[in-house]
Amino acid sequence: MLKGKKILLGVTGSIAAYKAAFLVRELKKEGAEVKVVLTHHAKSFITPLTLSTLSENPVLIDWSNDQESWNNHVDLGLWADIMLIAPCSANTLAKMNTGICDNLLMGVYLSAKCPVAFAPAMDLDMYQHFTTKRNIQSLVDQGYHLIDAEEGELASGLIGKGRMAEPETIIEHCKLILGGKDQKKKFNQTKFLITAGPTYEGIDPVRFIGNRSSGKMGIEIAKTAKKMGANVHLVLGPSNENTSGLEEMEITRVESAEEMFNAVKTRLETTDIGIFSAAVADYKPKNQADQKIKKNDSEITLELVKNPDILKYAGEQKAKFGYKLIGFALETNNEIENAKSKLGRKNLDLIVLNSLQDKGAGFATSTNKITILGKDNKILKFELKSKAEVAEDILNTIADEI
Ligand code: CTP
Repeated sequence: MLKGKKILLGVTGSIAAYKAAFLVRELKKEGAEVKVVLTHHAKSFITPLTLSTLSENPVLIDWSNDQESWNNHVDLGLWADIMLIAPCSANTLAKMNTGICDNLLMGVYLSAKCPVAFAPAMDLDMYQHFTTKRNIQSLVDQGYHLIDAEEGELASGLIGKGRMAEPETIIEHCKLILGGKDQKKKFNQTKFLITAGPTYEGIDPVRFIGNRSSGKMGIEIAKTAKKMGANVHLVLGPSNENTSGLEEMEITRVESAEEMFNAVKTRLETTDIGIFSAAVADYKPKNQADQKIKKNDSEITLELVKNPDILKYAGEQKAKFGYKLIGFALETNNEIENAKSKLGRKNLDLIVLNSLQDKGAGFATSTNKITILGKDNKILKFELKSKAEVAEDILNTIADEI
């Protein structure tokens, strides 16, 4: 699948740069066209001659070749189907995140119109540093593809996370990204309505009943649907997640279940696919106090009343408007049975099950482990993955199954 693909490989200063030679060789074996850009620091770890021989193209390092000809960073950025930065040093990560453009590689990166993937490599303490983590997260939030470092023995002799992913792993990612790009039009102009985040149910002007949902899963689904060509309307509860990458979609911010219900109701008519991932509070205080409640009494009782079940309502309107509906189920026990029962009760086409029994799944984590159940008793189980990858699995399943 890499045959004829144009791959631009950026190599930065890290001991893992030696693996770039294997990477280029394997990419060439797969039939890809490869051009390599090196930073000056990378030259201390691997020679340009090795990489130009393997890639069968001149290796580019400087903005100009001995003042004679100009290496056009814009053309290179436009030439590539994908740009890989492997290894990506802590220094380059920081530059990518701030837009510092002090070498040809950064100029090409800033001009690239294609997907960009980066494979960090550094010592474990550097990898664990708050700034590195923040830079990586910020790049992921901006839509760049992380090929995560692996655990193992490091050049320092220490053992931990920081080794660059192996060339085979990088190539697998490359195929997935390019495959995804080819599928970009999978949901061309399909109208998605997505709910995400928690809801807050007011007790008085300062207090509320809420839950631990971060909204991240729904936000990732919205971003991925957008990447696959969909028109997305996101109804988002009070989430503190970074909303960069959501600029090109319509967002309605809401706080309570009632507000979410009202936002959804007016949208159903124009929806093709509804994905309801919000963790909606099932109950709200019967009366919301106008003033802050004072602690005069030793005990108080809050009377709660049921909130509207937004997904159930959407299920009831399905026949009228003809959309497909996907819900979520967060369960702690009898997971499959409970999810199946929700699928039927709420008239869904698919349900995505999270079990709180699974480590790394559910609320307030950056990973998730899901099972998708269909109407025909089909059960698809997935591994623990980042929420961005889980979003891809969910959308690919929707495309395949309904
Ligand atoms: N949901 C909704 N409105 C509600 C409650 C839930 O739209 N008032 C949706 C959620 O977005 C999710 C699905 O229904 O897609 C299941 O939510 P969950 O809380 O697991 O199920 P409940 O129906 O509330 O059932 P229970 O709490 O009894 O498990």
